[in-house]
Amino acid sequence: MTNTIKRIAVFTSGGDAPGMNAAIRAVVRTATYHNMHIYGILRGYTGMINGDIRRLETRDVGNIIHRGGTILKTARSMEFHTPEGRKTAYEALVAHDIDACIAIGGNGTFTGADIFSKEHNIPFIGIPGTIDNDLYGTDYTIGFDTAVNTAVEAVDKIRDTADSHNRLFFVEVMGRHAGFIALSTGIGSGAACVLVPETDTSIDGLIKILKKGAKRKKLFSLVIVAEGNKNGGAAEIAQKVTDKFDFYDAKVTIIGHLQRGGSPTAKDRVLASQLGYGAVEALIEGKKNVMVGVVNNKIKLTPFKNAIQKEKQLSSDALKMAEILSL
Ligand code: F6P
Repeated sequence: MTNTIKRIAVFTSGGDAPGMNAAIRAVVRTATYHNMHIYGILRGYTGMINGDIRRLETRDVGNIIHRGGTILKTARSMEFHTPEGRKTAYEALVAHDIDACIAIGGNGTFTGADIFSKEHNIPFIGIPGTIDNDLYGTDYTIGFDTAVNTAVEAVDKIRDTADSHNRLFFVEVMGRHAGFIALSTGIGSGAACVLVPETDTSIDGLIKILKKGAKRKKLFSLVIVAEGNKNGGAAEIAQKVTDKFDFYDAKVTIIGHLQRGGSPTAKDRVLASQLGYGAVEALIEGKKNVMVGVVNNKIKLTPFKNAIQKEKQLSSDALKMAEILSL
Protein backbone atom coordinates (compact mmCIF):
# COMPACT_ATOMS: atom_id res chain seq x y z
CA MET A 1 0.00 0.00 0.00
CA THR A 2 1.32 3.49 -0.85
CA ASN A 3 1.43 5.74 2.15
CA THR A 4 -0.19 9.05 1.28
CA ILE A 5 0.31 10.48 4.75
CA LYS A 6 3.46 12.59 4.86
CA ARG A 7 2.93 15.05 7.70
CA ILE A 8 1.57 14.03 11.09
CA ALA A 9 0.82 16.14 14.15
CA VAL A 10 0.90 14.70 17.66
CA PHE A 11 -0.52 16.25 20.83
CA THR A 12 -1.46 15.47 24.42
CA SER A 13 -4.77 16.61 25.87
CA GLY A 14 -6.77 16.41 29.12
CA GLY A 15 -5.10 15.27 32.34
CA ASP A 16 -1.41 14.45 31.93
CA ALA A 17 -0.30 10.89 32.65
CA PRO A 18 3.18 9.45 33.32
CA GLY A 19 4.32 7.74 30.12
CA MET A 20 2.90 10.33 27.71
CA ASN A 21 6.48 11.37 26.85
CA ALA A 22 7.41 7.79 26.00
CA ALA A 23 4.42 7.70 23.63
CA ILE A 24 5.43 11.00 21.96
CA ARG A 25 8.95 9.62 21.53
CA ALA A 26 7.63 6.42 19.93
CA VAL A 27 5.38 8.36 17.54
CA VAL A 28 8.19 10.70 16.45
CA ARG A 29 10.73 7.93 15.95
CA THR A 30 8.35 5.54 14.13
CA ALA A 31 7.10 8.31 11.83
CA THR A 32 10.66 9.45 11.12
CA TYR A 33 11.62 5.86 10.29
CA HIS A 34 8.84 5.90 7.68
CA ASN A 35 10.15 9.20 6.24
CA MET A 36 7.24 11.27 7.49
CA HIS A 37 7.48 14.77 8.90
CA ILE A 38 6.21 15.04 12.43
CA TYR A 39 4.86 18.10 14.23
CA GLY A 40 4.04 18.65 17.90
CA ILE A 41 1.00 20.69 18.88
CA LEU A 42 1.44 22.45 22.22
CA ARG A 43 -1.32 22.37 24.89
CA GLY A 44 -3.70 20.05 23.06
CA TYR A 45 -6.71 21.53 21.30
CA THR A 46 -5.90 24.97 22.71
CA GLY A 47 -2.60 24.94 20.82
CA MET A 48 -4.31 23.59 17.70
CA ILE A 49 -6.70 26.57 17.73
CA ASN A 50 -3.81 28.99 18.34
CA GLY A 51 -1.61 27.40 15.66
CA ASP A 52 1.00 26.52 18.30
CA ILE A 53 2.60 23.84 16.15
CA ARG A 54 6.30 23.05 15.78
CA ARG A 55 8.46 20.52 13.97
CA LEU A 56 9.71 17.56 16.03
CA GLU A 57 12.87 15.71 15.03
CA THR A 58 14.17 12.50 16.58
CA ARG A 59 16.63 14.37 18.84
CA ASP A 60 13.81 16.53 20.25
CA VAL A 61 12.44 13.42 21.92
CA GLY A 62 15.78 12.18 23.29
CA ASN A 63 16.11 11.82 27.06
CA ILE A 64 12.35 12.00 27.74
CA ILE A 65 11.33 8.33 28.05
CA HIS A 66 11.76 8.46 31.83
CA ARG A 67 10.12 11.83 32.41
CA GLY A 68 6.63 12.34 33.86
CA GLY A 69 4.23 15.01 32.57
CA THR A 70 4.23 15.85 28.88
CA ILE A 71 6.83 17.86 26.95
CA LEU A 72 3.98 19.01 24.68
CA LYS A 73 2.01 20.37 27.68
CA THR A 74 -1.70 19.78 27.96
CA ALA A 75 -5.01 21.59 28.46
CA ARG A 76 -8.77 21.10 28.55
CA SER A 77 -10.15 23.41 25.81
CA MET A 78 -13.69 24.80 26.04
CA GLU A 79 -13.29 26.60 22.71
CA PHE A 80 -12.83 23.31 20.88
CA HIS A 81 -16.38 22.38 21.98
CA THR A 82 -17.67 25.01 19.51
CA PRO A 83 -17.81 24.61 15.68
CA GLU A 84 -16.03 27.98 15.33
CA GLY A 85 -13.15 26.81 17.53
CA ARG A 86 -12.81 23.58 15.56
CA LYS A 87 -12.85 25.52 12.26
CA THR A 88 -9.98 27.72 13.47
CA ALA A 89 -8.10 24.58 14.53
CA TYR A 90 -8.67 23.05 11.10
CA GLU A 91 -7.31 26.14 9.38
CA ALA A 92 -4.15 25.94 11.52
CA LEU A 93 -3.63 22.29 10.52
CA VAL A 94 -4.13 23.17 6.84
CA ALA A 95 -1.64 26.04 7.17
CA HIS A 96 0.95 23.48 8.32
CA ASP A 97 -0.07 20.92 5.64
CA ILE A 98 -0.93 18.35 8.32
CA ASP A 99 -2.41 15.16 6.80
CA ALA A 100 -3.29 13.32 10.02
CA CYS A 101 -3.22 13.67 13.81
CA ILE A 102 -2.32 11.44 16.73
CA ALA A 103 -4.13 12.39 19.94
CA ILE A 104 -2.87 11.17 23.31
CA GLY A 105 -5.48 11.49 26.03
CA GLY A 106 -8.70 10.12 27.45
CA ASN A 107 -12.42 10.19 26.87
CA GLY A 108 -12.77 13.95 26.31
CA THR A 109 -9.82 14.00 23.92
CA PHE A 110 -11.30 11.25 21.74
CA THR A 111 -14.79 12.79 21.80
CA GLY A 112 -13.26 16.00 20.38
CA ALA A 113 -11.18 14.05 17.84
CA ASP A 114 -14.20 12.07 16.64
CA ILE A 115 -16.34 15.18 16.06
CA PHE A 116 -13.46 17.12 14.47
CA SER A 117 -12.32 14.44 12.05
CA LYS A 118 -15.87 13.89 10.81
CA GLU A 119 -16.42 17.64 10.32
CA HIS A 120 -13.08 18.29 8.63
CA ASN A 121 -12.04 14.95 7.16
CA ILE A 122 -8.62 14.69 8.80
CA PRO A 123 -7.77 11.17 10.02
CA PHE A 124 -7.12 10.82 13.75
CA ILE A 125 -5.63 7.95 15.73
CA GLY A 126 -6.03 7.99 19.51
CA ILE A 127 -3.55 6.75 22.12
CA PRO A 128 -5.12 6.07 25.55
CA GLY A 129 -3.28 8.25 28.06
CA THR A 130 -5.04 8.69 31.38
CA ILE A 131 -4.26 7.45 34.87
CA ASP A 132 -7.93 6.44 35.28
CA ASN A 133 -7.70 3.33 33.00
CA ASP A 134 -11.35 3.94 32.11
CA LEU A 135 -11.23 3.41 28.34
CA TYR A 136 -12.89 0.52 26.57
CA GLY A 137 -10.65 -1.18 23.98
CA THR A 138 -7.43 -1.50 25.96
CA ASP A 139 -6.49 -3.52 29.02
CA TYR A 140 -4.47 -0.62 30.39
CA THR A 141 -4.06 3.09 29.67
CA ILE A 142 -0.76 4.96 29.87
CA GLY A 143 -0.14 6.25 33.39
CA PHE A 144 -2.38 3.85 35.30
CA ASP A 145 0.42 1.58 36.48
CA THR A 146 2.54 4.50 37.68
CA ALA A 147 -0.42 6.09 39.47
CA VAL A 148 -1.24 2.83 41.27
CA ASN A 149 2.41 2.36 42.28
CA THR A 150 2.49 5.90 43.66
CA ALA A 151 -0.74 5.34 45.59
CA VAL A 152 0.40 1.97 47.00
CA GLU A 153 3.70 3.48 48.11
CA ALA A 154 1.79 6.26 49.89
CA VAL A 155 -0.59 3.79 51.57
CA ASP A 156 2.38 1.69 52.75
CA LYS A 157 3.60 4.76 54.62
CA ILE A 158 0.15 5.47 56.02
CA ARG A 159 -0.02 1.81 57.17
CA ASP A 160 3.02 2.35 59.42
CA THR A 161 1.45 5.24 61.28
CA ALA A 162 -2.03 3.65 61.27
CA ASP A 163 -0.54 0.55 62.90
CA SER A 164 1.43 2.55 65.48
CA HIS A 165 -1.65 4.49 66.63
CA ASN A 166 -4.41 1.89 66.03
CA ARG A 167 -6.08 4.26 63.61
CA LEU A 168 -8.67 3.97 60.90
CA PHE A 169 -7.53 5.74 57.72
CA PHE A 170 -9.68 6.79 54.78
CA VAL A 171 -7.40 7.30 51.80
CA GLU A 172 -8.81 8.98 48.70
CA VAL A 173 -7.36 8.17 45.29
CA MET A 174 -8.24 9.64 41.87
CA GLY A 175 -10.99 8.33 39.63
CA ARG A 176 -13.95 10.61 38.98
CA HIS A 177 -16.07 7.99 37.28
CA ALA A 178 -14.10 4.78 37.62
CA GLY A 179 -12.65 2.71 40.44
CA PHE A 180 -9.71 1.07 38.67
CA ILE A 181 -7.06 3.00 40.62
CA ALA A 182 -8.94 2.44 43.91
CA LEU A 183 -9.37 -1.29 43.37
CA SER A 184 -5.74 -1.96 42.39
CA THR A 185 -4.50 0.28 45.19
CA GLY A 186 -6.77 -1.51 47.65
CA ILE A 187 -5.57 -4.97 46.61
CA GLY A 188 -1.93 -3.87 46.39
CA SER A 189 -1.92 -2.22 49.80
CA GLY A 190 -4.04 -4.79 51.64
CA ALA A 191 -6.91 -2.44 52.47
CA ALA A 192 -9.86 -3.47 54.65
CA CYS A 193 -12.33 -2.05 52.14
CA VAL A 194 -12.43 -0.37 48.72
CA LEU A 195 -15.19 2.08 47.79
CA VAL A 196 -15.64 2.62 44.05
CA PRO A 197 -18.16 4.56 41.91
CA GLU A 198 -19.29 1.35 40.17
CA THR A 199 -20.75 -0.30 43.28
CA ASP A 200 -22.84 1.11 46.05
CA THR A 201 -21.42 0.28 49.48
CA SER A 202 -23.67 1.86 52.12
CA ILE A 203 -22.26 3.48 55.25
CA ASP A 204 -23.96 0.75 57.31
CA GLY A 205 -22.35 -1.90 55.09
CA LEU A 206 -18.93 -0.30 55.59
CA ILE A 207 -19.41 -0.09 59.36
CA LYS A 208 -20.35 -3.78 59.40
CA ILE A 209 -17.08 -4.64 57.64
CA LEU A 210 -15.06 -2.50 60.06
CA LYS A 211 -16.83 -3.95 63.11
CA LYS A 212 -16.15 -7.48 61.88
CA GLY A 213 -12.48 -6.53 61.52
CA ALA A 214 -12.42 -5.13 65.06
CA LYS A 215 -13.95 -8.39 66.35
CA ARG A 216 -11.15 -10.28 64.61
CA LYS A 217 -8.70 -8.12 66.58
CA LYS A 218 -7.73 -5.86 63.68
CA LEU A 219 -6.11 -2.96 65.45
CA PHE A 220 -6.07 -0.59 62.49
CA SER A 221 -7.76 -0.41 59.10
CA LEU A 222 -7.26 1.21 55.74
CA VAL A 223 -10.23 2.14 53.55
CA ILE A 224 -9.48 3.21 49.97
CA VAL A 225 -12.05 5.60 48.51
CA ALA A 226 -12.24 6.57 44.82
CA GLU A 227 -12.89 10.31 44.50
CA GLY A 228 -16.06 9.61 42.48
CA ASN A 229 -17.54 7.25 45.08
CA LYS A 230 -21.32 7.77 45.17
CA ASN A 231 -21.61 8.18 48.96
CA GLY A 232 -18.89 10.83 49.00
CA GLY A 233 -15.12 11.21 49.03
CA ALA A 234 -12.85 10.15 51.89
CA ALA A 235 -13.64 13.16 54.11
CA GLU A 236 -17.39 12.74 53.77
CA ILE A 237 -17.28 8.98 54.34
CA ALA A 238 -15.00 9.41 57.36
CA GLN A 239 -17.47 11.89 58.89
CA LYS A 240 -20.46 9.63 58.27
CA VAL A 241 -18.67 6.58 59.70
CA THR A 242 -17.23 8.25 62.79
CA ASP A 243 -20.66 9.70 63.64
CA LYS A 244 -21.81 6.11 64.15
CA PHE A 245 -18.69 4.17 65.06
CA ASP A 246 -15.89 5.26 67.36
CA PHE A 247 -13.68 2.22 67.80
CA TYR A 248 -10.77 3.79 65.94
CA ASP A 249 -9.26 7.22 65.81
CA ALA A 250 -10.15 8.10 62.18
CA LYS A 251 -7.93 10.09 59.82
CA VAL A 252 -8.26 11.19 56.20
CA THR A 253 -5.56 11.40 53.50
CA ILE A 254 -6.19 12.61 49.95
CA ILE A 255 -3.37 11.51 47.66
CA GLY A 256 -4.59 13.79 44.84
CA HIS A 257 -2.32 15.00 42.06
CA LEU A 258 0.73 13.18 43.46
CA GLN A 259 -0.69 10.24 41.47
CA ARG A 260 -0.36 12.13 38.20
CA GLY A 261 3.34 12.92 38.44
CA GLY A 262 6.65 11.12 38.62
CA SER A 263 8.79 8.97 36.42
CA PRO A 264 6.70 6.33 34.58
CA THR A 265 7.11 2.70 35.61
CA ALA A 266 8.76 0.29 33.15
CA LYS A 267 5.31 -1.14 32.42
CA ASP A 268 3.97 2.29 31.41
CA ARG A 269 7.04 3.04 29.28
CA VAL A 270 6.69 -0.25 27.40
CA LEU A 271 2.94 0.22 26.92
CA ALA A 272 3.41 3.82 25.72
CA SER A 273 6.12 2.70 23.27
CA GLN A 274 3.88 -0.06 21.87
CA LEU A 275 0.94 2.32 21.50
CA GLY A 276 2.97 5.13 19.89
CA TYR A 277 4.47 2.68 17.41
CA GLY A 278 1.06 1.08 16.79
CA ALA A 279 -0.60 4.45 16.16
CA VAL A 280 1.80 5.38 13.34
CA GLU A 281 1.54 1.89 11.81
CA ALA A 282 -2.27 2.20 11.91
CA LEU A 283 -2.14 5.51 10.02
CA ILE A 284 0.15 3.97 7.41
CA GLU A 285 -2.36 1.14 6.96
CA GLY A 286 -5.03 3.75 6.22
CA LYS A 287 -6.90 3.46 9.51
CA LYS A 288 -8.71 6.48 10.92
CA ASN A 289 -10.80 7.55 13.89
CA VAL A 290 -9.76 4.61 16.02
CA MET A 291 -8.03 4.24 19.36
CA VAL A 292 -5.04 1.93 19.48
CA GLY A 293 -5.03 -0.31 22.54
CA VAL A 294 -3.34 -3.44 23.86
CA VAL A 295 -5.68 -6.33 24.65
CA ASN A 296 -4.21 -9.65 25.82
CA ASN A 297 -0.77 -8.42 24.73
CA LYS A 298 -1.88 -7.69 21.18
CA ILE A 299 -2.43 -4.34 19.48
CA LYS A 300 -6.14 -3.76 18.90
CA LEU A 301 -7.92 -0.89 17.15
CA THR A 302 -11.27 0.29 18.50
CA PRO A 303 -13.47 2.93 16.80
CA PHE A 304 -13.57 6.17 18.82
CA LYS A 305 -17.33 5.76 19.22
CA ASN A 306 -16.89 2.47 21.11
CA ALA A 307 -13.86 3.60 23.12
CA ILE A 308 -15.90 6.59 24.32
CA GLN A 309 -19.34 5.07 24.78
CA LYS A 310 -18.79 1.48 25.82
CA GLU A 311 -18.12 1.05 29.49
CA LYS A 312 -15.00 -0.77 30.60
CA GLN A 313 -16.15 -3.06 33.40
CA LEU A 314 -14.41 -3.19 36.74
CA SER A 315 -13.79 -6.87 37.45
CA SER A 316 -16.37 -8.16 39.93
CA ASP A 317 -14.03 -11.10 40.64
CA ALA A 318 -11.28 -8.67 41.68
CA LEU A 319 -13.75 -6.78 43.90
CA LYS A 320 -14.77 -10.02 45.58
CA MET A 321 -11.13 -11.04 45.97
CA ALA A 322 -10.30 -7.70 47.63
CA GLU A 323 -13.10 -8.33 50.11
CA ILE A 324 -12.01 -11.90 50.88
CA LEU A 325 -8.34 -10.97 51.29
CA SER A 326 -9.21 -8.30 53.83
CA LEU A 327 -10.66 -10.81 56.30
O1 F6P B 1 -8.81 11.99 34.31
C1 F6P B 1 -7.64 11.98 35.03
C2 F6P B 1 -7.83 12.68 36.35
O2 F6P B 1 -6.60 12.64 37.03
C3 F6P B 1 -8.96 12.16 37.23
O3 F6P B 1 -8.63 11.00 37.94
C4 F6P B 1 -9.21 13.35 38.11
O4 F6P B 1 -10.51 13.33 38.62
C5 F6P B 1 -9.03 14.49 37.17
O5 F6P B 1 -8.16 14.06 36.15
C6 F6P B 1 -8.49 15.74 37.80
O6 F6P B 1 -8.42 16.72 36.83
P1 F6P B 1 -7.73 18.14 37.04
O7 F6P B 1 -6.25 17.92 37.14
O8 F6P B 1 -8.10 18.92 35.84
O9 F6P B 1 -8.28 18.66 38.32
